[in-house]
Amino acid sequence: MNTDIQSGKNTDLKIGDIFTPILWGRFAVEKFNIFHKWMDGATIFDPTMGQGDLLSALIIHGLDQGVKLKEMPILNLFGNEMNYSYYKQALQHFHSRFNIDMSPNFTNRDILELNPRKHDILLGNPPWQNFNDLPPAYKEKIKPAFEEFKLTGNKKDLLLGRSRIDIAALIIKASIQNFLKQKGEAFFFMPMSLLLNDGAHESFRNYTTNTTNFAPVEVFDFSNVTVFENIATRYGLTHFKRNIEAKFPIPWHIRENDQWVKYKGAPLRNITAPVSVFPENKKNKLNEFRNIQLKKHNTPRQGLNTCGANKIFFFKEHRQLDTETCLLDNNTKLPSQFIHPLLTAKNFRNQTNPEVWVLIPYNRDGRPISEGELSQFPELKTYLNKWEQELKGRKGTLIRSWLKKGRWWAMLGVGPYNFAPYKIVWEAYGRKTFAPKIFEGYWQANQALQAFIPCNSKQEAAKILKQLQNPAIEEILLSYQMEGTMNWAQPGKIKRLIDFT
Ligand SMILES: C[S@@+](CC[C@H](N)C(=O)[O-])C[C@H]1O[C@@H](n2cnc3c(N)ncnc32)[C@H](O)[C@@H]1O
Repeated sequence: MNTDIQSGKNTDLKIGDIFTPILWGRFAVEKFNIFHKWMDGATIFDPTMGQGDLLSALIIHGLDQGVKLKEMPILNLFGNEMNYSYYKQALQHFHSRFNIDMSPNFTNRDILELNPRKHDILLGNPPWQNFNDLPPAYKEKIKPAFEEFKLTGNKKDLLLGRSRIDIAALIIKASIQNFLKQKGEAFFFMPMSLLLNDGAHESFRNYTTNTTNFAPVEVFDFSNVTVFENIATRYGLTHFKRNIEAKFPIPWHIRENDQWVKYKGAPLRNITAPVSVFPENKKNKLNEFRNIQLKKHNTPRQGLNTCGANKIFFFKEHRQLDTETCLLDNNTKLPSQFIHPLLTAKNFRNQTNPEVWVLIPYNRDGRPISEGELSQFPELKTYLNKWEQELKGRKGTLIRSWLKKGRWWAMLGVGPYNFAPYKIVWEAYGRKTFAPKIFEGYWQANQALQAFIPCNSKQEAAKILKQLQNPAIEEILLSYQMEGTMNWAQPGKIKRLIDFT
């Protein structure tokens, strides 16, 4: 079958096709009393139903409770699915499991194009996929929908097709606007990044579409539970209500030692901030934290990024040959002024000497050296020429703009701040403690592993370090639930705790 992206039906497009085990469908049904609401007359709609297992879960739950099939209002169950084979399988499952023809109630459309109609309850598991990773033609088609549903946090990223927003955010907003009655309730299995992450998902947390507001009212966070096999994304089950103002804190349940433990979830300060999760008595303490006052030049930064060319820019061995030249990996002579020690995890423990060295062919003003300047350093020129093809082959919109300007030896994340006399650096990735440390400015931070605040003097660095050592900062970071992940203490998280003067 052909992929029919334009018509939005009969397509074999596969986007986020991970199905919810019936057991977990029943979990949602039981936790939120959905079965009884349905028996009392509510209509239930799964906007992206896959093989219809969430709807089946309601019937299976009823049968287990001793309710007969003919006593259940099965024709109050509605489902929609974009992929034709899954839609057919949903019909087939209902036929083989319950001997019911659901064709009057199941549709085969892109939910973004299905004619609006209203239901009492939405029960769903939308596709989870980064906008960036969607098939290019589908990406183009749905770009305008992100605007319609007020999901254009960074419009430029979206237009360039590199937004990190999850399509789940769009499907949830569209479903609530177009398919949920006033004051209706929606229950979605969804990536927790919609509630917990910085960046692209702040635009989900305006909790509004063009025509309605809505709000999360309770969350079951599956961070310690496996619902979907082999899925690295952190996910949970969120209860939303339509036509209410978002009000925090909300109950937030986390599975610990085989029990659901109740926490509270609330954004700190403004509503679109990532939700912080905390035991009830912690909240005041977090709110009492006063932002650190810093100058603009102290803006936190991520480490430098070679865009996949570490083997060209990084070296393991370094020997100074004379004041101006060094020998790298026992085979490459380069001018010392472009070679810097690169921080590794060991430098945050006991190791004081560099283990890795990085070539930064840049001027101190933070710009890549020019062609003319390169000619003044024949050894550097020979070395870079050797790798020209690899360096020119690097992918990504930002690095490509340097390639187009002819500076194919550029990297990302390099600016004048890399050459500040001092840096306060911390491990930003995969940790659960926040332990910033002062390094002299020639040390460099590595990609997302480390982040840093550039400082103009040792005194300035010491003063800022003291403020960063306030234990409330680590507590706030822990409340974002990102310990051990790539989002532990990235610059965006730390910037929230700073006011720039
Ligand atoms: C994560 S699966 C969940 C399916 C089902 N709700 C469940 O829980 O088992 C998401 C489903 O959405 C479908 N899908 C993706 N984009 C869609 C769209 N724009 N409109 C309708 N269905 C879509 C996928 O084909 C997939 O079957």
